[in-house]
Amino acid sequence: MVKKNTCVFISGQGSNLKNLISCSRDNTFPIKISLVISNKKNAYGIKYAKKYNIPYILINTKIKNYENKILFNLKKYKISFICLAGYMKIISSILINNYKGKIINIHPSLLPKYKGLNTFSRMLKDKEKNAGCTVHYVNEKLDSGSNIIQKKFIINDNDNETILRNKTQRLEYRAFPEAIIKIFRNT
Ligand code: GRF
Repeated sequence: MVKKNTCVFISGQGSNLKNLISCSRDNTFPIKISLVISNKKNAYGIKYAKKYNIPYILINTKIKNYENKILFNLKKYKISFICLAGYMKIISSILINNYKGKIINIHPSLLPKYKGLNTFSRMLKDKEKNAGCTVHYVNEKLDSGSNIIQKKFIINDNDNETILRNKTQRLEYRAFPEAIIKIFRNT
């Protein structure tokens, strides 16, 4: 099987990156993590790129046309698939048009509910019954592309933001790889 050269975009902890790196060591997993892009130079997740000798690039998003730099590097590393894993910037049409249907994101809510930030505090405030995560395709609108996989759990009375985050992340570590397998199953 020829694995798809994949770039993972991060901004922070990188625990999903770590999980995808670990999955991709399996010969049957459809992607290889060939590049990591971070818009934060101190992102903790960069340490996983270093540890596993994966090339990584730091992007200064204050610079005009920074996405051209991203695109240049994606081409340089022959990237054909992109996973956004806690990347806290909106992807613009430059990348979306060059990677149509090839960019996916993981979000900590049951989309279309709770797009954007602070998902857990908003769920608690609304007394939601269910929480979960969604892996979806990325389009130009925030957290709005079609869903690939969702996983949910029932919110307990004593769940606070931290507990919800932990429970959601545990589901994310299953949802992201499953979504990737689903996408490439028939290719
Ligand atoms: C995840 O919870 C994801 O749903 C959200 O950002 C978080 C990233 O966590 N988009 P990590 O950096 O992978 O640990």
